[in-house]
Amino acid sequence: MKKIFIFSFLVLLIFLSRCSNSPEPSKVNCSNPDSINPNGTSELSLLMRQMHSKAVEMKNLIEIGKKPGDEPVDFANIASATPTDSKTKKPSFSGFAQNYLSALEAVYKSEPENIKLKYNEMVNACLSCHGDHCPGPVPKIKKLMIKN
Ligand code: HEC
Repeated sequence: MKKIFIFSFLVLLIFLSRCSNSPEPSKVNCSNPDSINPNGTSELSLLMRQMHSKAVEMKNLIEIGKKPGDEPVDFANIASATPTDSKTKKPSFSGFAQNYLSALEAVYKSEPENIKLKYNEMVNACLSCHGDHCPGPVPKIKKLMIKN
């Protein structure tokens, strides 16, 4: 009797853990400031999370007067990465993406005395695309700005 009880308990546990892992339709909520979404893993949202962590790393280094680490090479596919919702990318998207990539490159090409300015211009490039395409994360992105 006891064994059966333990067995059913285990089955229940496995069942429950499977349930909580079951993939909900992944949705980045572009109107929600906390849009980090435990289930949402579109190609574009994963890329965005990497871009965000990289920007945090760059900010921390620049603020203490260091070079912003290695230049990321794998952000070039923003234009082709699939968003959560296929309607998210408007015709203006690739222009904004290109603008961001140039701004990113400019940070790495910058003279040390201009680097904060160049970095903030890059954050502005994030913000201009977000203002038009995905306003939810805007407050989070604003925190990346380096204040003087
Ligand atoms: C060319 C437009 C564009 C640029 C530039 C851009 N984003 Fe995004 N970002 C988006 C879109 C669209 C989404 C929604 C992705 C989806 O729907 O799958 C997004 C999503 C995000 C998210 C939410 C990701 C998640 O799943 O929780 C964060 C955070 C984010 N971006 C930060 C940034 C940062 C930081 C930068 C600049 C370093 C940046 N973005 C540059 C368009 C852009």
